[in-house]
Amino acid sequence: MKLKTVYICEKCSYQSQKWLGKCPECGGWNTFQEDVIDKKTENKIKAKSATTSSLIQDYAPQKRIQTQIEELDRVLGGGIIEGHVILLSGEPGIGKSTLTLQLCGKISEKVSQLLYISGEESKWQIANRAERLGIKNENIRLLSETNFETILATLEDQKPECVIVDSIQVIYSGEIPSLPGSINQVRFCAENLMNFAKRTGIPVIIIGHVTKDGTLAGPRILEHLVDTVLFLEGERYQNFRLIRSLKNRFGSTNEVGIFEMTENGLEEIKNASAIFLGGRKENSIGSAITAALEGTRSFLVEIQALLSPTNFGYPKRAASGFDLNRLQLLTAVIQKHLGLNVSGQDIYINVVGGLKLNEPALDLAVIMAIISSFKKIPLPAETVYIGEVGLCGELRPVTQLEKRLKEAEKIGLKHIITGQTVDFLKKSSFKIEVIKDIKELLSNIKD
Ligand code: TYD
Ligand code: MG
Repeated sequence: MKLKTVYICEKCSYQSQKWLGKCPECGGWNTFQEDVIDKKTENKIKAKSATTSSLIQDYAPQKRIQTQIEELDRVLGGGIIEGHVILLSGEPGIGKSTLTLQLCGKISEKVSQLLYISGEESKWQIANRAERLGIKNENIRLLSETNFETILATLEDQKPECVIVDSIQVIYSGEIPSLPGSINQVRFCAENLMNFAKRTGIPVIIIGHVTKDGTLAGPRILEHLVDTVLFLEGERYQNFRLIRSLKNRFGSTNEVGIFEMTENGLEEIKNASAIFLGGRKENSIGSAITAALEGTRSFLVEIQALLSPTNFGYPKRAASGFDLNRLQLLTAVIQKHLGLNVSGQDIYINVVGGLKLNEPALDLAVIMAIISSFKKIPLPAETVYIGEVGLCGELRPVTQLEKRLKEAEKIGLKHIITGQTVDFLKKSSFKIEVIKDIKELLSNIKD
């Protein structure tokens, strides 16, 4: 084995002989990590031609193992497929181990053997958590191990029906001369797990940690390798958790599953709107309701705004759960087209429930919440604001308005202000107000 030191970009895997500040491939700054690779001796074996097969012959509907966690199954595109390699990523402490253990509990009733490999926690810790989550099933086997060769040998020997590896960062192979968690280790272990899954048809769920800015080595590289990338997110000290699929070879990628972290683990939230609007006070100043859309799912959320006179010369703009640049843009629109002088005001925006939402359909509700706080007048009760606002102050259509309205109807809201109309409205008892420009909004708030 001939070893060589190289520098690898942890974002795009670009290799360089020297350390570089900026990656010439992906443009990332400070992304190079030192690593040691094995200088491969030239492959002199002559390749033989392989057999090909007919596309039609190979076409067969895939059998899926349903996790029976509805929120998760939807995000996966219906369940776990044979040989499926899933990466579950997220910040430490967000609930990845909890979710996978709950998943084990559910699918253990359907399969004969599951193997949960943990390199992070002792068997005792996992068993303790399982007991607390009420999971008791003989079919779940535990292995506390970090050596990849031992793990692979165990897998080959036991051939469980589903495997969980918690987490890829702590697993290391003796064949790779780098530290656990380094790009080469992570790539080697993941590639071999992938080969194992594809060869045997056994699905493997790999857990990977990502830091707040998503820069930790490994998971980024893993994303290219695996079939499905799930991302579990939420504010650590708030209880809502969203699971998204960032990549899915076997389903759509814009689905989202909503959970709440409770003392009984992650609980599915089927009626998200009722929960997100739960603590809302009637007639509160600076509060507006909108219908957000995540994947095929719509739910109502409260947007709050707080304005207070700026103490120092430069007004502050802060947003929690909403894009700050978008807020700055909307603030300029308010100043210019509504003639409200918000330039002397600090503006804070909050999406209630710790949700991070990023779609222009929320614009109108953000603007209304700001106007309400500025004028110190509550918005009309039972009203939903849905619309994207352009720089000329015009209201633009949003996607899937009907779905959003059905959600509003379910919660009992009957008054909607938006920029377009849909057929659905003609049949329902909704009171709709279609506006073309945000100037028309001011009449909504009586001074
Ligand atoms: P964990 O699944 O260990 O996170 P990760 O594997 O992503 O690092 O979950 C961590 C947090 O979840 C921990 O702070 C405690 C909390 N938790 C609950 O609130 N309820 C529960 O039933 C469980 C098991 C964990
Ligand atoms: Mg964990």
